[in-house]
Amino acid sequence: MTMHFLDLIESRVSTNAFDPSKVVPVEQIQELVRLATHAPTAYNLQNWRFIAVHTSQAKARLRAVASDQPKITDAAVTFIIAGALPDHADVAERLRPAVEAGFMPERMVAGWEEAVRQAYGQHPGRQRDEAFRTATFAGATLMFAAQAFGLASCPMGGFDADGVAREFYLGSREIPVMLLAVGQAAEGNWPAKPRRPVGDVLSLV
Ligand SMILES: Cc1cc2nc3c(=O)[nH]c(=O)nc-3n(C[C@H](O)[C@H](O)[C@H](O)COP(=O)(O)O)c2cc1C
Repeated sequence: MTMHFLDLIESRVSTNAFDPSKVVPVEQIQELVRLATHAPTAYNLQNWRFIAVHTSQAKARLRAVASDQPKITDAAVTFIIAGALPDHADVAERLRPAVEAGFMPERMVAGWEEAVRQAYGQHPGRQRDEAFRTATFAGATLMFAAQAFGLASCPMGGFDADGVAREFYLGSREIPVMLLAVGQAAEGNWPAKPRRPVGDVLSLV
């Protein structure tokens, strides 16, 4: 039984206190990541990777490079969501299923490859931006999928990126963009925090 999506948006909070006795089964971790990969990526590059930190030993290693945040050892699992720098060499492989499914014409693939080369090849800043966009969409999708399963979450930027990359063997083109703790909320968490008025943040032009 899942909540209506708009209710999920309005009821989500960043959970600070997690119940350390709650486990999320591996099958549910896999399902969360499967759902997260429905998020969009530029050119369908799917330039992401998810590291599900769920064993006690791995949680301790992550906590040590993440400002010693207790939620990393208390939550059932913390996902390291990594974005990869876009690479035109990945395009053909990533698009093949769409070609094989019969709706993407084969001749388009070379064009997308060239577009990726042009967009990012000589532009390290754009590559990094895209890695962050990719991982952010994935993280948001995973966060709401977790909530739909009745799980609480907390996104975290409070970590040492070099330390996370080193401890969890990220590749040279992978950036740890965000941590996302997922588990059962304990007692004592804050309710949803009020937001700035729409009139202060919306420009209608
Ligand atoms: C990019 C980002 C980084 C964050 N980093 C942390 C963090 O390291 N530790 C933490 O406890 N909360 C972290 N948060 C949670 C924010 O504090 C929280 O989203 C904010 O206070 C709004 O509360 P809400 O999510 O309950 O609406 C982060 C949130 C975002 C979006």
